[in-house]
Amino acid sequence: MSSPSPSPAEPAQAAHPLDPLRPDEIASAAALLRGAHDLGPRVRFVSLSPAEPAKGSGAEARRAAEAVLYDAQERTTIEARVDLDAKTVTDWRVLTGVHPQMTAAEFLSVEAAVRRAPQFLEALRRRGIADASDVDVDPVSAGHNSAPEEQFDSPRRLARILAFQRPNPGGNAYSRPLQGIFGLVDVDTGELVYFEDREPVPLPAEDGEFRADRVGPLRDDVREIRITQPDGPSFTVEGHEVRWQKWRLRVGFTTREGLVLHHVGYEDDGELRPILHRASYAEMVVPYADPDRFYQAPLDIGEFNIGTMTNALELGCDCLGAIHYFDAAYASPDGEPVVVPNAICLHEEDSGLLWKHTDFRTGDVQVRRGRRLVISTIVTVGNYEYGFFWYLHQDGVISSEVKATGIVATQALHDGETPAFGALLAPRLGGINHQHIFCARLDFDLDGVENTVVEVETEAVPQGSENPQGNAWRTVRRPLATELEARREIDPLRARGWLVTNPSRENAVGQPVAYKLIPGDNTVPFAAPGSALRRRAGFVEHHLWVTRYDAAERYPAGEYPYQHPGGDGLPRWVQADRGLEQEDVVVWYTMNHHHVPRPEDWPVMPVARIGFELKPWGFFARNPALDVPPSEPAGGGSCHA
Ligand code: CO
Repeated sequence: MSSPSPSPAEPAQAAHPLDPLRPDEIASAAALLRGAHDLGPRVRFVSLSPAEPAKGSGAEARRAAEAVLYDAQERTTIEARVDLDAKTVTDWRVLTGVHPQMTAAEFLSVEAAVRRAPQFLEALRRRGIADASDVDVDPVSAGHNSAPEEQFDSPRRLARILAFQRPNPGGNAYSRPLQGIFGLVDVDTGELVYFEDREPVPLPAEDGEFRADRVGPLRDDVREIRITQPDGPSFTVEGHEVRWQKWRLRVGFTTREGLVLHHVGYEDDGELRPILHRASYAEMVVPYADPDRFYQAPLDIGEFNIGTMTNALELGCDCLGAIHYFDAAYASPDGEPVVVPNAICLHEEDSGLLWKHTDFRTGDVQVRRGRRLVISTIVTVGNYEYGFFWYLHQDGVISSEVKATGIVATQALHDGETPAFGALLAPRLGGINHQHIFCARLDFDLDGVENTVVEVETEAVPQGSENPQGNAWRTVRRPLATELEARREIDPLRARGWLVTNPSRENAVGQPVAYKLIPGDNTVPFAAPGSALRRRAGFVEHHLWVTRYDAAERYPAGEYPYQHPGGDGLPRWVQADRGLEQEDVVVWYTMNHHHVPRPEDWPVMPVARIGFELKPWGFFARNPALDVPPSEPAGGGSCHA
């Protein structure tokens, strides 16, 4: 750039290859794609994200974008790559037989088409609804089931529908589910290809209000809380590179996954030690348990691109304190940049007690309060919100949590009816049993790329000569040598966890340095073996998978899960049964939030949490938080006698 004062569209600072795409880069990539190929009138931009450089290439790698387009006329998917430095399209592949993610434009076009369909209008009339404009139609990804209405001579792009009536303008539509309406829509043509109207169920009476000005008197004893950091936060941000105390990382964003962490490392005694090369939630699925809703099991990341559903966060509301926000941008279906202001929140939180000891003889007290760095984003997927949170702690722990909130999926019930596969939320309103199953992709580079994953669990020693008093127990370790062997389940009764180790680097006590994956709340999928869910979202079969790094293996249910019959992703990749010892390994952790709805989840659900921890396990020589300074007591003086 020759201009001495660059315009905002052309920032002076060169972007790192892993940085999220800027709006000007999205516009430029879209223009280059349009210029290089004659895009038909019905070609839509599905996603546009940074094309991440090959692992091992440095910051000098070229800045590139990868695009997925969909041609609704030809029913083809196009994968393209744009070199943003050279301003050229470097790759263009036309795929048939796959379905890319549903875009917001398709979502709304399905709703509009259904609202015009005569069968649907007749079903509304049967329910005493004269005006379709206050009826919401939520498309549901069709999945791949064996129902007779799904069988067509030639492939179609399909969505199921769920319909709700808003009790008032802006009100909670999920309070009024239109029970008994079943439909299947051709997303490309808007044709209602299958429709069934069973016996209507009267609408529940409650309006499900939760807006502040509608819920009646608000409690008046909540005093203001203020988080102040008079000297500013302890982190620094340069572009998308974050430094916080001894932690280093880069914040990324893709259309498909939303928030991504890159190059998470810790500065230990002057050495920047890599831990995670890349971390993200790479897939999720929400299967429902009612036989009438067999199709409802959306893979929200792989079928809907959660990055495009990212909330713009607000200070004092979503985040509190001294915040640094990162904006994010994605391409609209027309290829226009859509900017989400404040898409990713970076801030510090007090995290309670870090460590403490009182010498009860001398009275000496040593206590440190802990702090954590929070990197978070929130997405809205139809009725639900998901917050994806990553935490870096002063003691070297990395933890992650998904916060589920929003409105549960509902069904209308007859008076006196209790749902067989759910629970009553309110009079004549049921919530359906379901699970939220997340898969975190953790590309470890623990002190280098060559790592070994070791299962560790605890065993009681049988009482006898080795254990005369019966108190003995010990931990046992077993390296997971190959990909098939590394398909593992949690076992809280054996305190099972998994160590990611670097056998070529010894710690202070002569053992391989390690981080331990410690599962949190979890359970198993309850859909039947061989069911559509377990074929299509095969990652749910195991809590742990380990694969040898391959740049093409990014999403655990495959690149294109929409309407995919199943078998793609992790279950397919591990058939190669590659060796995993001292290799570049990727760890995949699957966690099930088991959601049996309860009245307290209505009309809006308090946050439910599920997560895991990555804990240093002989990575450091001693407690890495010894050097955290004591804090000053609120009233002045010293915390330390
Ligand atoms: Co739920």
